[in-house]
Amino acid sequence: MGTINEEVKDDEPIKDEPGWLPGWWMGIFYFTIAFSLFFPVYYHLMQGWSQENQYMEQVKTGPKVEETAVTLKADGSNPFRGDSAAVSEGQKLFMMTCAACHKPDGTGMIGPNLMDGEWLHGNTDSVIYNLVLTGIPQEKLKQKKSPIGGPSSPMPPKGGAPISDTKVLKILAWLSQKNTTLLAGK
Ligand code: HEC
Repeated sequence: MGTINEEVKDDEPIKDEPGWLPGWWMGIFYFTIAFSLFFPVYYHLMQGWSQENQYMEQVKTGPKVEETAVTLKADGSNPFRGDSAAVSEGQKLFMMTCAACHKPDGTGMIGPNLMDGEWLHGNTDSVIYNLVLTGIPQEKLKQKKSPIGGPSSPMPPKGGAPISDTKVLKILAWLSQKNTTLLAGK
């Protein structure tokens, strides 16, 4: 019992040294300071690393997002007809931008059936391309009522999606493969 309450005696004198850390410790300390000054100079200036170079490197090797702009051929036909890569991209684009009104399989919902032989505004590449680019305003609607009933509503340019003219041609390439009553030409 007695040992617990025993006063702790600090019989070791505290040595009051001049406030310096050991030489090896200070050595490491000065080395890290010197290194922090040297390294940025070495890395950025001597090795030539820069954000700009890094960026240019990635631009060179990265995926190409640009597409070359394509338009109708001189005879008015769609240059992507029969181009299987364009057709499959066109199908995906149709799903994203047109399916909401024309149904994923194109058989019509708010907009008319695009898979039948009936065309309200014409049935050639050139006519349909221009129709999709400009959209169909209220006063040009030909549909009396939508396939699912109710009044017909206008179609916004490119279905309201911010896609390029070239992408519209890809969608129509898919459409022309699905529906052969869409004819090549003017
Ligand atoms: C907001 C709904 C809507 C979207 C989105 C839409 N359309 Fe339409 N589309 C319509 C309507 C409504 C009509 C019928 C206009 C009329 O009465 O003349 C139409 C008509 C058409 C026609 C003419 C059909 C015919 O029989 O003459 C084509 C071709 C067409 N759309 C293609 C497209 C394509 C391609 C897209 C996607 C880029 C698209 N539409 C997106 C509503 C839409």
